[in-house]
Amino acid sequence: MAKKNAGVQVDSDSAYLFSDSGSCDFKMEYKFRLNKLVFICALFVVISMVYFGFFFSDKVCALSNFKSPSCSEVSLRTPTPEHVVKLLSLLSDPFNSKLPNPGLSYDEIIHENFQFDMNAHDVMVFLHIQKTGGTSFGRHLVQDLDLQRPCTCQKKRKRCYCFRPNRNENWLFSRYSIGWKCGLHADWTELSSCVDAELIKNEGDSVKRRYFYISLLREPISRYLSEFRHVQRGATWKNSRHWCGGRVATEQELPKCYPGVVWSDVTFDSFTSCPYNLANNRQTRMMADLALVGCYNTSSYSKEDRDQILLASAKKNLANMAFFALTEYQKIGQYVFEETFNLRFAVTFSQHNSTLSNAVLATLTKDQIEKIRRLNSLDIELYEFAKSLMFSRFNKLQMRDPQFEERWNHLGELPNKTEFNWDDAIDDETTKTTSDT
Ligand SMILES: *[C@@H]1O[C@H](CO)[C@@H](O)[C@H](O)[C@H]1NC(C)=O
Ligand SMILES: *[C@@H]1O[C@H](CO)[C@@H](O)[C@H](O)[C@H]1NC(C)=O
Ligand SMILES: *[C@@H]1O[C@H](CO)[C@@H](O)[C@H](O)[C@H]1NC(C)=O
Repeated sequence: MAKKNAGVQVDSDSAYLFSDSGSCDFKMEYKFRLNKLVFICALFVVISMVYFGFFFSDKVCALSNFKSPSCSEVSLRTPTPEHVVKLLSLLSDPFNSKLPNPGLSYDEIIHENFQFDMNAHDVMVFLHIQKTGGTSFGRHLVQDLDLQRPCTCQKKRKRCYCFRPNRNENWLFSRYSIGWKCGLHADWTELSSCVDAELIKNEGDSVKRRYFYISLLREPISRYLSEFRHVQRGATWKNSRHWCGGRVATEQELPKCYPGVVWSDVTFDSFTSCPYNLANNRQTRMMADLALVGCYNTSSYSKEDRDQILLASAKKNLANMAFFALTEYQKIGQYVFEETFNLRFAVTFSQHNSTLSNAVLATLTKDQIEKIRRLNSLDIELYEFAKSLMFSRFNKLQMRDPQFEERWNHLGELPNKTEFNWDDAIDDETTKTTSDT
C-alpha cells in the first residue's frame, strides 16, 4: 500500500493565481512538496508576474491565455498587480504560518493510486454544507457501508463509533461519528486548520494521518430556498464559529440579520434583503479558503475581487477533494464514492426531488427569483463547474470499470447484505433544531 505524507500541498495560498482547475488535468497543478526550492521558484514566478503586471500589463493577459482551450472556461480572470502584491504578502512566510491541511487530492488518489486504507491512518473528513442533503449522506456513511467492522451506533446519542478494524481509532470525521468537533457545519477553512489538531488531541500524534475530504453540493436556488424554509422553522446555526485566521469572526464582521433569538417569522423579502445573510453564496464561502481574502473582514478587497478570489479558491478546493457529489445526482454520487474509496454501500441512494423548494419556488415572482440568482451568482457558477467536473470523473471511472453495467444496475445490492437496523432515530429536518442538516 502506497504511503504518503498528508501535508503535501503548500499551494492553497498561491495556486489559484495560476490554477486552471476543472476538467484540466491536475497533473499540471502545483503539488508543491514542502520544499523550499520549489517555494523560491514560486516566489520568483510571482515576482515576475508583478513585474510584468506593472510594466507590461498586456503581457499578463498573454500569459494568462497561455493555457489549453479546454481550460479557459474555468480559468480565473487575469490577476491585476494589486492582487499579486497582496498575495505576495500572504505568501511571504508559509513555513512559519500554520498551513491548512486539506488532505489528499482526487488526482493523487486516482492517478497515484493512494487507496483509502482503513487499516492504516486514513481519515475521511465530511464537509457538510447546510441543506445539501448531507444528513442523509452522513447517515449512509455511518450505517450503510459494508465494512469489515461496521460502525456501532447508539440511538440516543445519535452518535456512532466508526473505528478501524484493528484498533479503536476513528476513520471518519463527521457529525455522526465524531460530532461537530471543528464547529457546527464547519467549512473548509475551519476543517483544514482543525481536523488534524483535533485528532492529535484525541488519538495522539505518533502517526501521520492522511485526509480524504468529501462533500456535497446542491443546485443553489433549491438550496437557498431550503435554507430559507429551515430558518423559518427556527434554525439559526448561531453556534457556528466562523473560525478563520486563528479566531472566530467578530460581531462587527458578521452582523446579525435579526434582533431576536430566531428568525422564524422572516418573510422572503427580508430574508433576501439582509446583506449579511450567510445563506448567500454559502457553498462558495464554505468551500473556499477564507484566509485568502482576510476572512470575514471585507475591507481588504473590493467586493468584486473578493468574489473572484473566493470563487477561484472554492473551485480549486472542490476539485482537490477526494470526493464530492451533487444532491441532484444521487446514483452517480454513490457510484463515484464506491469507486473512489473502494467501499460499497448496502443501500441504493434515493433521489428525493425537492418538492418543498419547488413549492416555494412556485409562489415567487420573477423578480424574486432573479434576486436569488443575483445573491447566489458565485454558487451558481461553482455548481456548474462542479457538475462538469463530476461528469468528467464519472465518465473516467466508468471507462476503466469492466463491470460497469453490472455495477450500475445493482448499486447498493451486496452479495450478502446484512440487515442493519438503525431506523429513523436521526430525524431529518422535521424538528426545530439549530444543528440539523
Ligand atoms: C477590518 O480590518 C480593518 C483593517 O485591519 C479594520 O480597520 C476594520 O475595523 C476591520 N473591520 C471590521 C468590521 O472588523
Ligand atoms: C425526480 O425527478 C426526475 C426528473 O424530473 C424524475 O425522473 C424522477 O422520477 C423523480 N424522482 C422521484 C422520486 O420523484
Ligand atoms: C452469501 O451468498 C451466497 C449465495 O448468494 C451463499 O452461498 C453464501 O453462503 C452466503 N454467505 C454468507 C456468509 O451468508
